[in-house]
Amino acid sequence: MTADGVHHARACVLTAAVIHVPRDPFAEGAGALEAWDDGAVAVAADGRIDDVGDASRVRSRHPDRPVVDRRGAIVLPGFVDAHIHYPQVGVIGAFGLPLLRWLDERTFPFEARFLDLAFAEREARTFLRLLAANGTTSALVFGAHVASAMEAFFTAAEVSGLRVASGLVVADHGMPAALCTTHERAYAEAATLAERWHARGRLRYAVSPRFAVTCGDGVLAACGALARERPELLVTSHLNESRAEIATVRAAFPGDRDYLAVYERHGLVGPHRVFAHDVHPSDDELERLAAAGAAVAHCPTSNAFLGSGAFPYARHRRAGVRVALGSDVGAGTSPALLHEALQAYLTQAGLGPEGEPLTTAHLLWLLTRAGADAIGLGDEVGDLRPGRAADLVLIEPPPGSALAAVLEHAEGPDAVLGACLALAREGAVAETWVQGAVVHRRSDVGIVA
Ligand code: GUN
Ligand code: ZN
Repeated sequence: MTADGVHHARACVLTAAVIHVPRDPFAEGAGALEAWDDGAVAVAADGRIDDVGDASRVRSRHPDRPVVDRRGAIVLPGFVDAHIHYPQVGVIGAFGLPLLRWLDERTFPFEARFLDLAFAEREARTFLRLLAANGTTSALVFGAHVASAMEAFFTAAEVSGLRVASGLVVADHGMPAALCTTHERAYAEAATLAERWHARGRLRYAVSPRFAVTCGDGVLAACGALARERPELLVTSHLNESRAEIATVRAAFPGDRDYLAVYERHGLVGPHRVFAHDVHPSDDELERLAAAGAAVAHCPTSNAFLGSGAFPYARHRRAGVRVALGSDVGAGTSPALLHEALQAYLTQAGLGPEGEPLTTAHLLWLLTRAGADAIGLGDEVGDLRPGRAADLVLIEPPPGSALAAVLEHAEGPDAVLGACLALAREGAVAETWVQGAVVHRRSDVGIVA
């Protein structure tokens, strides 16, 4: 970062093993993966990729570009986290509770601490640092219920260089009084924040009703009104996560045919609207999500941790619903999206014939392109094709680690990716780049030019 707080790109040819999934593996199978053992990514001065392929060819096509020699590293597109909560880092690891008790007893009280602006500022910086340290370059972030805490968050997000969409979370009952709002305030505060922050650099605004358990029709209508007036904003919420939650919503909205219908009635379901979880959807809800072009953020460690259930991936795929991946910190067990991909695989494998058999190509797709498409960044990031922004993760196993030992024997991209998905976590992320600029560098990694 420079003194002005901006991360600047530098034209270069980055040499390393390179793997990405530019085509949909659910449609194309294993052929969707593209990889080069001795590969290179050429980054132009504007931070965009203008070439990718075999190192010798890329270097010869760009003889004047400085070479950043990272042979030994594995370069992947930056990860896209479609659902993670900024005010929940301190809640990670609150074992032993199902969703509604976990919220009441552990999470809402912690989120109330974000009324303290200095606390919110510190947590915002920590949260963003953890995203970059885990290879996440773009995220749809569930925010706080406090407007000043969101102002602090957007301010820190701008400095971080990451691509962040977020918004003020709103609810009007079933939470500590200090976190509840009114429909007038919900609209006014969100509109002001959206005006200030949406489309400012890499930041965007997401209209964020908490969920239908804590939002009445007034607050949902305020969200719907803002989303209608400013269709370029994102919308995000929670849906069909646990059976007890669904029963609560059905009791609160007896006139609606199901959980999704509550959001539909307020105009909150459509493209670039992302609903976290959807562990227990009806077939009808899946059809309507698909028809609307809305996305589901699958949060596998969270679903296992809270005992919410096993995500019905195959039903989502068959219905044509977009699925992306979310870490859902703090019900999720870490900000490491790589770990979420492993848990997605484990969950589906555990379902036997009902499960969706996920390959390494599917998992890299979920980590990258699927998320980019879901949060409206599909034209900008998600793979390493020329024209995309150079948002990259460099995986370098720490010396002596299990990952280093496994990679010694890994031949071909499937084995290399498999090793990374099984074993790479925060400690294996050597660098994270956004738009050709380094936003995170592990402390033991020297600056290589
Ligand atoms: N539903 C409403 N709020 C939350 C939350 O913070 N975490 C999870 N997992 N589900 C929710
Ligand atoms: Zn969530």
